[in-house]
Amino acid sequence: MAAGNPFDYQRPLTRPAGLIDRRDELDALQRAAADEVAVRLASPRRFGKTSLLHAHLDAMREAGHRTSYVDFDRVGTVADVADRLVDGLRQLPVDPERRIERRLSRLGVSIGTTGLTVQVAPRRPGRSLDADEARGVIRDLLALPGELGADGTLTVVAMDEFQDLLTADDRLDGVFRSVIQHQRSVAYVFAGSSASLMRELFSHRERPFYGQARPLELPPLPEDETFLHVRDRLPAHPQRDAAAAQIVQFAAGHPQRTMLLAHHLFDRLEAPAAGEEAAREALDAALRELDDSYISLWTGMGRAERAAVVALADGLSPTSRGVAQDHGTARSSMQRAVERLEADGQLVFRHGTRLELLDPLFAEWLRRR
Ligand SMILES: Nc1ncnc2c1ncn2[C@@H]1O[C@H](COP(=O)(O)OP(=O)(O)O)[C@@H](O)[C@H]1O
Ligand SMILES: [Mg+2]
Repeated sequence: MAAGNPFDYQRPLTRPAGLIDRRDELDALQRAAADEVAVRLASPRRFGKTSLLHAHLDAMREAGHRTSYVDFDRVGTVADVADRLVDGLRQLPVDPERRIERRLSRLGVSIGTTGLTVQVAPRRPGRSLDADEARGVIRDLLALPGELGADGTLTVVAMDEFQDLLTADDRLDGVFRSVIQHQRSVAYVFAGSSASLMRELFSHRERPFYGQARPLELPPLPEDETFLHVRDRLPAHPQRDAAAAQIVQFAAGHPQRTMLLAHHLFDRLEAPAAGEEAAREALDAALRELDDSYISLWTGMGRAERAAVVALADGLSPTSRGVAQDHGTARSSMQRAVERLEADGQLVFRHGTRLELLDPLFAEWLRRR
């Protein structure tokens, strides 16, 4: 094996062995699958949903079940949704029989290199599907896992960034629900990064998926195990343990930020001359890397949101009289800003009654401004 940097912070983990902790979550997913209970997994971006889904599906496959991973990340149209379903369902072990192709050809649809197409005239190039045709394909494909269930083997289907369906078509969840609701021997996991849209899909009475899936959350990573995991993968160096402890503490259990800092620390510790400043230098390098994205995040924020995140970075309550006064903002506008930030679910989370910034590096960036 090449001795490259072992800390990959840009892609979901595909080897379950690389996962820190998440045993309770994997257990919960596996129990729900055995009971054919659907699960909805919600957390902010970069908290490890996709990595967890892969680990879950790996375990299920190893136990002899069929699995499929469907990625709806940033789908824009109903035709995109159909394409993604094809990509996901083709992973089922029935695909070598070309069952999916045969089903689609009944609908006049074929799988091209750029996605699904319909044949309008013989020997003419196909055109891409319109929304109604795509909905027809979606209905047909969604039925497949249920039909496979006839042989009694469990099929586990993970649908990632499920809320993005709503971008393609606000009513698509109804189509999904109507097809999959009576299926046997199929277990679904719906994962999503947008807290507000996931709530909209699963917690609003008028939505088809209301109350239809067991909620599962992803907490921050546990400090002790994270420390051991990181330390054991760093180069041998006199500064290793102290520096690992520093960055793990700093990242406060944020999975992707932990890996990002560990990656930069690894690079520093490869130099035998690295000193006590190694952890600090890794932090600086990570912040340099993120600077552009934080600038655009900051630029996109309103006045009250900026005041709120600055207060949170300093450990203050954004809705306190003092903070509102310092920023020349009414407490009611601060309150509304906090509500918007919370609904979005990407920047802040509630820890008991206290609000905190999710991203410790963004907090540090704000403090250094
Ligand atoms: N349990 C974990 N152990 C170690 N690293 C993790 C874990 N979960 C996530 N990560 C890190 O976080 C990054 C983002 O994970 P990912 O699964 O893509 O999150 P999400 O799907 O929630 O956006 C990965 O590249 C990986 O570095
Ligand atoms: Mg993901």
